[in-house]
Amino acid sequence: MRKNNIVLVGGGSTWTPGILKAMTTHLDDFALNRVVLYDINEERQEVIGDFAKILFKEEAPEVEVVYTTDKEVAYSDVDFVFCQMRTGGFDMREKDEKIPLSLGVVGQETCGPGGFAYGLRSIRDMVEMVKDVRRLSPDAWILNYTNPAAIVALALDKIFPEEDRILNICDQPVNLLRSYSKLIDHDVNKLEPVYFGLNHFGWFTNIYDETGKDRAPELKDIILQGGFRPVDAEQRDQSWLDTYAMVEDMLTDFPDYLPNTYLQYYLYPEYKLSTSDPERTRTDEVREGREKKVFAECRRIVENGTARDSKVVHNDAHGDMMVEVAASIANNLRKTFVVMVRNDGIVSNLPEDSMVEVAASLGANGPAPYAVGHIDTFYKGLIENQYAFEKLTVEAYMEESYGKALQALTLNRTVGDAKKARKVLDALIEANAAYWPELK
Ligand code: NAD
Ligand code: G6P
Ligand code: MN
Repeated sequence: MRKNNIVLVGGGSTWTPGILKAMTTHLDDFALNRVVLYDINEERQEVIGDFAKILFKEEAPEVEVVYTTDKEVAYSDVDFVFCQMRTGGFDMREKDEKIPLSLGVVGQETCGPGGFAYGLRSIRDMVEMVKDVRRLSPDAWILNYTNPAAIVALALDKIFPEEDRILNICDQPVNLLRSYSKLIDHDVNKLEPVYFGLNHFGWFTNIYDETGKDRAPELKDIILQGGFRPVDAEQRDQSWLDTYAMVEDMLTDFPDYLPNTYLQYYLYPEYKLSTSDPERTRTDEVREGREKKVFAECRRIVENGTARDSKVVHNDAHGDMMVEVAASIANNLRKTFVVMVRNDGIVSNLPEDSMVEVAASLGANGPAPYAVGHIDTFYKGLIENQYAFEKLTVEAYMEESYGKALQALTLNRTVGDAKKARKVLDALIEANAAYWPELK
């Protein structure tokens, strides 16, 4: 088996330890030669990088581990780029959440004005990354998880239309599948989903088991009768438990399909707003929780010189999925994943150039998506509205257009009012001056 050179962009991310641990447990199906961690923040990178060296020395000493803030080192001679950067860090995420809330609009990092603001920040760094990678490793696969993935995926598709080795993925479909599998006590690897929509804006229509039986009706009944909790509920913060609980509400109102949790912001913007605290949002929870824990644990491991008793690096869906996606491509395994691809007729009555999220068989030549066909009016209406928002956001970036930015926010279901949209936009422009193009 070919041994891969990989680079993790955003090597100082809170998710990196879990991904590294997943790499050490998947060496049989994803062989490694070199792992490089790359970040623009030296301090974060050093903590996680020193942890990585200890982990690999103990679990896979044959793998070379390097950490760096030099992109020439990072992007040279690479087979797979795993990208998960956060332009502007948690300081800017906080603004994405709190500025809209202070003006009476949903505040979330990937949905509504928060996702819009984060999108305009992410695009520039992501375009730069793709150009740097292509200069130094023309054939590398770029696996992107950077949010807001819907907007990033669309922007990269518009800016690099010939690219066929960039794959944008989100772990929420697999998180949901893992939680469904627990509800019906079934091996998640034996469940085949049918899924359609945009990223953070989609539905499972069917969940087939290995006998061909669709388990979706049973799953809907279970959730409607007993509610929904994530499989890893003990490790989840309250906001995630609240989020999963909203699936029952969505199913009560719209029982056709199993919804992605992020649809709660678009279907119930007033309720989400009325139950949000503009002074304390998800960013505060992450900073006090995941970020603190991950960095404290990595520092402890570095001090002790061993990762054998590490708690922070337990495997979650995210790490496993990232490595399994790469393994499926590297070894042409053709496993099924829910990924983002250019529509091109997969959903027959949605725009050809939208970036849809659907199930695909993933092999050496990339994703071969499964056809979805025609979707019903309600879903088509919702998706077309959201897609218009995403497209206008990307165009606002590319054309540096205030007008398109205002159109985008006005269309977004979480805003829905042009005067509100203008207020939020003006406040976000001020907050993002260091990151956005100047909108004229
Ligand atoms: P984080 O801030 O802890 O980590 C991001 C890291 O990226 C930071 O260390 C930062 O210094 C670095 N960075 C910023 N700009 C960079 C650049 N231009 N080049 C290289 N590194 C850069 O954030 P996090 O919560 O760990 O999340 C990381 C990213 O992964 C976010 O975009 C998040 O939304 C995304 N994410 C996506 C999924 C998904 O399902 N698609 C799941 C989890 C996380
Ligand atoms: C889900 C989403 C991701 C998001 C992640 C973490 O997995 O699919 O896109 O980044 O949750 O969100 P959090 O609020 O915990 O940082
Ligand atoms: Mn996601």
